[in-house]
Amino acid sequence: MTHATAMGRGRARPRLLDLFSCAGGAGKGYEEAGFEVDGCDLAHRPNYPYPYHRGDALTYLADLIATGRIRRYAFVHASPPCQHGCALTVGTNASQGWGGTHVDLVAPTRALLERAGLPYVIEQPNGRAQIRKDLTLCGEMFGLGVIRHRNFELGRWSIARPAHRPHRGRVRGYRHGRFYDGPYVAAYGNGGGKPTVPELQQAMGITWTDVREELTEAIPPAYTAFIGRAHLATLTDTAGAAA
Ligand SMILES: C[S@@+](CC[C@H](N)C(=O)[O-])C[C@H]1O[C@@H](n2cnc3c(N)ncnc32)[C@H](O)[C@@H]1O
Repeated sequence: MTHATAMGRGRARPRLLDLFSCAGGAGKGYEEAGFEVDGCDLAHRPNYPYPYHRGDALTYLADLIATGRIRRYAFVHASPPCQHGCALTVGTNASQGWGGTHVDLVAPTRALLERAGLPYVIEQPNGRAQIRKDLTLCGEMFGLGVIRHRNFELGRWSIARPAHRPHRGRVRGYRHGRFYDGPYVAAYGNGGGKPTVPELQQAMGITWTDVREELTEAIPPAYTAFIGRAHLATLTDTAGAAA
């Protein structure tokens, strides 16, 4: 099956594979952009709004490639967690010594995605020494109540980088014992002027989970709606040029 076939004939929505999907912050944005979404996460994620496979993302992706089932997808998103961002110790995480020395889920994820032959997006975990920043997004670009800079690697496709917008003020909270007010809330941690769960939901544009951990792990859907639409536009441009 060609990439064009995976995109679907007629008006079928193209399918996106959402790896390390958590509660689906990223997945929701891709759905808004026009994709059918399927997830995969090692943890039990009952709030994930789409069908999902519970298991190790790399094992699952390798199996999809080996069996040819990867061909049902047009596009892949992966959010491998950073070493300190997740306490899970099973699957790939255990085999790579999670919690021990260095865990790099990005390199094996990228290698498999290259084998899959599909266009992809890898959210680059914070704190990584060598981050690929093909695209950096910020909540202010979308009028959100979080700043939440996120870096993305784009594989087998590209877009022009959107300009960063100046922030409107500070992130609300205590720093060194002093309280600062501001138009943004902190989408990490707890205490110290951190937002309530409803405030976080509102600021991130996420309504379907009230689990703080899932909210603080999530990509705001506005980011992936932007990425998904940009990707679909590149396909339309290519089809137009070929016609
Ligand atoms: C940063 S969160 C992803 C956030 C998600 N993209 C969103 O926007 O909501 C990382 C997720 O990876 C999952 N995870 C960690 N190791 C995994 C593995 N080896 N295979 C599959 N999922 C894994 C964690 O359970 C966690 O839900």
